[in-house]
Amino acid sequence: MAVDVARADGIATVTMNRPEALNAFTSEQLAAMLETIRSLRGDRSVRCVILTGAGARAFAAGADIKEMVDKTGDQGAAFGRLGHAVAGALEGLPQPTIAAVNGFALGGGTEVALACDIRLASENAVFAQPEVTLGILPGWGATQRLTRLVGPGLAAEIILSGRRVNADEALRIGLVNAVYPSDRLMAEALKLANQIAANSPRALAAAKRAMQLAFNGATASGLDTEARLFGESFGTADQREGMTAFIEKRPPVFTGE
Ligand code: CAA
Repeated sequence: MAVDVARADGIATVTMNRPEALNAFTSEQLAAMLETIRSLRGDRSVRCVILTGAGARAFAAGADIKEMVDKTGDQGAAFGRLGHAVAGALEGLPQPTIAAVNGFALGGGTEVALACDIRLASENAVFAQPEVTLGILPGWGATQRLTRLVGPGLAAEIILSGRRVNADEALRIGLVNAVYPSDRLMAEALKLANQIAANSPRALAAAKRAMQLAFNGATASGLDTEARLFGESFGTADQREGMTAFIEKRPPVFTGE
């Protein structure tokens, strides 16, 4: 399985471990993530969860484009639902979650980080929602979670341009809470996790549920709409062109079909 879990002193560190593809998510990888997150849910020994990526370069470079390139609308919709299930399972964990973003967090990588309660980043972290450059739209929650986190104007700029956001900007716009040198990121994440883990698990779970109600009523139907539109963007000429161009390492030529 390409998702590792290490439990120590009430903290579970979950590592997305597919560094040869910068921890990009295949269906198999997403299924492993879902199983791992669900296994943490009922584990009373786990008081706080840290999510990070294996290797020095990436948290996760998003959904696996080589798997997505040939998907039909129905297959794209199913893939979108799987990503939504992972993000939803993370968001719904009773234990607090910290994303320790240690490099590229692109597309689904940013979206998984957005589903965590708190984001910390290394100085080399890079965020983006490059889906529109691939002929699709963000499909695992960014249209809702990024918008509510950084505000509609900035979210629109980031999602509609596909541009990158470096660690300094991420800190400035509230996408991450703090930035650390790469070699200190995990120690700082553990320090915060320990502080959180010392608190009442009951109170933490209740606080999380209540805080989510500040937004979830409004985002629930938005997430459904995003999931439907994500599926509909597959099987289109633009999706095939965008993803084929990435694989062939050339710029895409979109026709809007
Ligand atoms: N899917 C599949 N393979 C990927 C990948 C991805 N998302 N990201 C990186 N890889 C693979 C590369 O193809 C490459 O494999 P090969 O050696 O077999 O060619 C390997 O990982 C290393 O990547 P690069 O050679 O490209 O490394 P780089 O340093 O030149 O560039 C990068 C790094 C900027 C992250 C670049 O890999 C990149 O742009 N990746 C794609 C990022 C992206 O567009 N993600 C969004 C996907 S769509 C999505 O996530 C939809 C959604 O909403 C859920």
